[in-house]
Amino acid sequence: MILITGGAGYIGSHCALGFLNQGENIIIFDNLENGHIETINSLKQAGKVEFIKGDLRNIQDIEEVFKKYEIDTVIHFAGYIQVEESVKNPSKYYRNNILGSLNLFDTMVKYNVKKIVFSSTCAIYGEPEYTPLDEKHPKNPVNPYGRTKLMIEQILEDYDRAYGLKSIRLRYFNVAGADSQTRIGEWHEPETHLIPNILKSVFEKDKTFKIFGTNYDTFDGTCIRDYVNVEDMAIAHVKAYNYLKQNNKSDYFNIGTSSGSSVKEVFDTAKSVTGKEIKVETLDRREGDAAILIANSEKAKNKLGWISNKTLEDSIKTAYLWEKSRH
Ligand SMILES: NC(=O)c1ccc[n+]([C@@H]2O[C@H](COP(=O)([O-])OP(=O)(O)OC[C@H]3O[C@@H](n4cnc5c(N)ncnc54)[C@H](O)[C@@H]3O)[C@@H](O)[C@H]2O)c1
Repeated sequence: MILITGGAGYIGSHCALGFLNQGENIIIFDNLENGHIETINSLKQAGKVEFIKGDLRNIQDIEEVFKKYEIDTVIHFAGYIQVEESVKNPSKYYRNNILGSLNLFDTMVKYNVKKIVFSSTCAIYGEPEYTPLDEKHPKNPVNPYGRTKLMIEQILEDYDRAYGLKSIRLRYFNVAGADSQTRIGEWHEPETHLIPNILKSVFEKDKTFKIFGTNYDTFDGTCIRDYVNVEDMAIAHVKAYNYLKQNNKSDYFNIGTSSGSSVKEVFDTAKSVTGKEIKVETLDRREGDAAILIANSEKAKNKLGWISNKTLEDSIKTAYLWEKSRH
């Protein structure tokens, strides 16, 4: 069986659907702090899903799962994800992301489960020295969130050398969109991501979409990011899982579309997809936002056979239908 930590959250739940589509049986482990029981209920309608409520910071919680089930591979999403919060409260991030992961990895070693796919991030690279970013780009994360992810990658390398724990680390760029059948979607509270925030401004009368910085060194002055669709992301995880099974070898990949869109372009696409006027205000730059972050995903294409298929418009369309269903 496949164990998915953080599977009640945004990306984990869409990847769970990806594994269900492949006919796999899955167990989801989540403390529901930022995930949702409604998401689990939707997944249960799509296939065979066991749900265990537990916290990775309590090693007994996760050990119970390994005692009870025959687990073959772990897909590890659980963790805190907000950059700004990690700067204000690093202890919270180190305790959850690092300690939680260590508890998980130690339990895997104890129960002889030796395969894991881990959610890493382009934030491990820090300020880009060149773009598109390939996997050889220097790694200098500029906030505690990014540092926790880099440390976990390093722990995984050490655990491979010492205990033979094989990992695939997927370094995501900006994940976007929702299930194309609108069963699940992005549901963060508070929401810090661009596309759901633009779309919320359509439905919530008192909400104005904020553009931070219009004087970046980009063609229209706003930041450029690489938006990869969450269903494409699910396929990347299934491919990473299959690769690990076939090759039993650790590796790491950037997962993005290899092209970028500016904040203004995303905003304009959202206006045309929704057909609505969206209130917008422009503010000063935020500290720590790089001008351009685009993935070079050639390695994922060559070794995993993965490419992104869906467009930014596809992501905004599904995200819009999801927001609509929630309002
Ligand atoms: N959203 C993005 O664009 C993006 C980009 C790069 C990397 N990532 C990584 O992908 C992963 C998933 O991100 P997401 O957007 O789905 O976040 P999310 O907050 O929606 O999902 C994380 C899930 O983990 C659970 N969780 C957190 N701590 C836990 C613990 N100690 N024990 C058990 N469950 C716990 C939460 O309840 C939540 O359901 C994260 O590791 C994140 O760092 C996300």
